[in-house]
Amino acid sequence: MDRRRFIKLCGTTAALAGIQGLQVGQANAAEMQKFNRVKLVDDKGAPLKTSSLSTTEAYIFTYPFKGTPCFLINLGSKPAGNVALTCNDGDYVWPGGVGGKGTVVAYSAICAHQLSYPNKEHTPISYMGSESSKVAGRAGVIVCCEHNRVYDPAEGGKMVATDKKATPPLLTIMLEHDSATDELFAVGVLGGATFEEFFKSYKNELREAYGTGVAKEEMADTTPTVLLSQYTGVCDRC
Ligand code: FES
Repeated sequence: MDRRRFIKLCGTTAALAGIQGLQVGQANAAEMQKFNRVKLVDDKGAPLKTSSLSTTEAYIFTYPFKGTPCFLINLGSKPAGNVALTCNDGDYVWPGGVGGKGTVVAYSAICAHQLSYPNKEHTPISYMGSESSKVAGRAGVIVCCEHNRVYDPAEGGKMVATDKKATPPLLTIMLEHDSATDELFAVGVLGGATFEEFFKSYKNELREAYGTGVAKEEMADTTPTVLLSQYTGVCDRC
């Protein structure tokens, strides 16, 4: 497949990388890796509007593939943006939030440590928008209770320093906001993608949840986006 397109954000040398069973393309942390432009809609198919997003809880949608979950978060206040970050694929700059007030961000919900992720039964990773995280000592963080990694969604998803070994930032999901309609679109990813490892690690679970090969299919047109508490049965807090 040759649908991956790349938009140059700054100039570092691209390295070759492949995604088993999907496609092979250039992976460069500094560049946005473009996928289908997909509109975020609610569970009834109506476009999500940034003006009506919760600030206390994250939403879940799948992108760029049918089996790869992501967090949509309204931070409530606009992050400064232009955060310099480093992942296993190199350096990149996180641009900041989008939406009418610039407060909306999105990240892969697959933990950058050992790939824990939310499924319909349970999630070890969640956004604590108003409740203080015991591990972080504050609210406004993404916490993975599997091994207590904390990520800051206002700082490009970078790991918050703790006594835990450093872990790369969460993969950024790049969003576009239509100011005329207040609608949101996912358009690509930025940072270190771990899709190949994810599909390998959870091959059986993903087959059971989505059907054979479906989890690896690229999203198109729209992606249903619901509150994490609606999506999953049990949400760990730590
Ligand atoms: S898998 Fe998330 S902290 Fe280890």
